[in-house]
Amino acid sequence: MFRKVRGFRDIYGEEIGYWRKIEEVIYSLSESFGYSEYKMPVLEKAEVFDRGIGSTTDIVEKEMFAFEDRNGDLLALRPEGTAGVVRGVVENKLYAGSGVKKYYYYGPMFRRERPQKGRYRQFYQYGVEAFGSASPLVDAEVIQLLCSFFDKCGIGEFLRLEINSIGCPECRPGYKNKLIEYFSKYEKELCEDCKRRLSTNPLRILDCKVPGCKKVASDAPVMIDYLCSECRKHFDSVKYYLEISGIDYDVNPFMVRGLDYYVRTAFEMITDKFEANSTVGAGGRYDGLVKQLGGPDYPGIGFAVGIDRLVNLIKEAGLTYEETLDIFMVMFPETVDAGLKLLKSLRDENWGVDMDFELGSMKSQLKKANRSQASYVVIVGEEELGKNAVTLKNMTDGEQQLVLLDELKNILSQKL
Ligand code: HAM
Repeated sequence: MFRKVRGFRDIYGEEIGYWRKIEEVIYSLSESFGYSEYKMPVLEKAEVFDRGIGSTTDIVEKEMFAFEDRNGDLLALRPEGTAGVVRGVVENKLYAGSGVKKYYYYGPMFRRERPQKGRYRQFYQYGVEAFGSASPLVDAEVIQLLCSFFDKCGIGEFLRLEINSIGCPECRPGYKNKLIEYFSKYEKELCEDCKRRLSTNPLRILDCKVPGCKKVASDAPVMIDYLCSECRKHFDSVKYYLEISGIDYDVNPFMVRGLDYYVRTAFEMITDKFEANSTVGAGGRYDGLVKQLGGPDYPGIGFAVGIDRLVNLIKEAGLTYEETLDIFMVMFPETVDAGLKLLKSLRDENWGVDMDFELGSMKSQLKKANRSQASYVVIVGEEELGKNAVTLKNMTDGEQQLVLLDELKNILSQKL
C-alpha cells in the first residue's frame, strides 16, 4: 500500500463542504472589489523566489521544494504566490498603461516545514495583489477586503488585525544598525539561528519564538520609532483610512513578517483559538519587488490567507457549512426509465439530486435518503406514475404530498 508523502494530505468527504463555501466567497468577493483572477504556474525558476522572497529568509534557506531539472535548471515549487505574480507582471509587461491592476489567486503552495496542525507542506492560499499605486488608500482597501473575506466566511469575530510599518530603504538601514548595536550586547543569550541573523537579517530576531530571544527582543528598538517622514505620513494615513472604514486594529511594533520584500505597511490577521500557528492571513506593501525582479518602479501590495488554517478555525468555532443535497430520488426497477428522465431534468435546473443505484426497497432507499441529508425526497412509484404524478416528501417535517409531474419543478423552485 502506498502512503502519502509526509506533510501532504487528502481532503475529501464532509471537509469539502467548508472548502466549497470558502471558494465561493473567494471568487465572488474578489470580483466585487474589482480584482481579476491570475493563474500563475506552480513551478518557477528557483531564482524567482531567491530574489523575490529573499535568500536569507527561512522559506528560501530551509523550506523550498527545489530541485535540478533534467536540463540543469534549478526549479522550485512555489512556496507563496506574490513572487510568481510579480514575475508574471514583469514578463507580461502588465505595468504598462495607467491605473491600478488588481489580481487574485487561489491554489496550493509548498513549504518543507515541520508538519503539525495548521502547518502542512502543501497548503492552499487565497491571495490578492494590487499594483500601480503607492497611495495609502490601496493599503486600506486591501485590508478591508481581507476583513470582509473573514466576515463573509462567518469567522470575523474570532480574528484581530495587527498592523505595523517596517519602513523603507530610506529609513530601515539606520534602524537596522540600531538593532544590530542592541542585539550585539546580548549575543550570548540568542539562539544559534539568531546569532547568524545578527549579520544576515537582524529584523528576523524580533520575530523569533525561542523564549531567550523573545525576552531580549522585548526591549529592542522598534521600527515605528525610526520611520522617515514619508513612511510616518503613509502609516498615519493607513490608520486614518482604517478608522473611517470602521476597521479595528492593534499596532504591533514587533511584527516583521518572514519575507524580505515588504516596505511600509505590514499586517496580520491573528486568532487566539489556536495555540500555535495563529496567523490565518497576512500581507503588506512591496514597492521595490517589481524592480527587484527586473521591471520598472511599480508599487504593489497584497495579502494571502491560509485556507487550511481557516477551515480548522471554522470547524473549531463550531460553524457548519456542509453541502446539503436538495433532492434524493427514490425509484424502482419498474419505474427507473421515467425516474432517470426526471432526475436529468431536475439536475438540468441545477438542483443537487442523488439516487440509490441499487434500486432497493422503499425502506432502504428512504434510509439512504435520510443519511444523504437531502431536503426533499421525490418518490417515483408505479402508482404515482399512473396518475402522472410523484410523491414529494419534506425531510424536515416529514410531510408528504402528491404532486403532478407538470407542477413538480414549479413547486420545488418555491421550496428550494
Ligand atoms: P505568509 O505569511 O508567508 O505570506 O503566508 C500567508 C498565510 O499562509 C499564513 O498566514 C498562513 O495562514 C498560511 N501558511 C503559510 N505557511 C503555511 C503552512 N505551512 N501550512 C498552512 N498554512 C500556511 C505570504 O505568503 C505572502 N505571499 C503574502 C502576501 C501577498 N504579501 C503580499 N502579498
